[in-house]
Amino acid sequence: MPVSVSAPGKIYLCGEHFVVYGAPALLSAIDKRVTVKIEDHKDKLLTYSLDNRFIRHIINVVKNHFGLRSIRPFKITVASQIKKGYHLGSSAAVSVASIGALLYYLKRVWNPDLVNKLAFEVEKIKHHNASGADNSGITYGGLVWYRKELEFLKSIWQLSLKIPSNLNKFYLIDTGTPLESTAAMVKFVAKKYAENKRFFDRFMAINEIQTKKIALALKEGNANNLVNALKVCENTLEKIGVVSQKVIPIIREVEKKGGAAKILGGGGRSKGVGYLLCFIAGENLLPDLVKRYNFSLEAISLGEEGIRLESSK
Ligand code: MEV
Repeated sequence: MPVSVSAPGKIYLCGEHFVVYGAPALLSAIDKRVTVKIEDHKDKLLTYSLDNRFIRHIINVVKNHFGLRSIRPFKITVASQIKKGYHLGSSAAVSVASIGALLYYLKRVWNPDLVNKLAFEVEKIKHHNASGADNSGITYGGLVWYRKELEFLKSIWQLSLKIPSNLNKFYLIDTGTPLESTAAMVKFVAKKYAENKRFFDRFMAINEIQTKKIALALKEGNANNLVNALKVCENTLEKIGVVSQKVIPIIREVEKKGGAAKILGGGGRSKGVGYLLCFIAGENLLPDLVKRYNFSLEAISLGEEGIRLESSK
């Protein structure tokens, strides 16, 4: 019986990079999804996707979990609305949706906690230091507070708050593909951390305070506090060197117009940073500015649903 499962992309409101070292991160699921369909196929296992090796790895993680030597032939199709390499969690969304679909197709199991656990196994092939925040934000959806306390102990809280409509005014600014992979950026930060732990800890502490302030601002519907906390959060990311010079001028201009813009996920050092996340109350203030930089702009909605069983017949 065919099974179709979808999972959202994610953004970090605050906490990327620092989350690898034990700071909290606040993530939100967005209104762009990956849908994975699995159906019987008579010949052999077939995968159609952007990256067949990645899909095969996901299938192996599921097979190993259940101790399955072989599985019946099936066809798996991946359809994605999430731009790859732009820090919206495209590959984590593929693994969450695929694992969800495989568990349901093979075992009739619907278990987001198990999906999240296995998706973390998959994340670790991308970079060995994966925090587990990306897959958690995508699996559970809404707003997720995530902190890796210890390697075997993770605090994952889905915040029971709905983003007030006056604050759900976020935009993505496309600044171009980053030259560096997320793995390379995580490695760069690890070197920086090893070289000067005191410097890093200082900004990590400031970043943690902003993560809390953002959660509070969203709860209270306070746009000014949200802007201020996002700005300081971005500044900590600039301090640790994950924000390319190419995007700093537009970030400063957004701030002058009363908004805030920040990098997402890994960021980038030498060219584009993928998407910038931007919050601004007057949306008509952005198009001309973005055009001047030859970037492009789209509105997104935060707080969307996590993994979802779309159909099972
Ligand atoms: C990547 O989307 C987010 C990072 O914080 C790495 C991680 O948490 O695994 C840069």
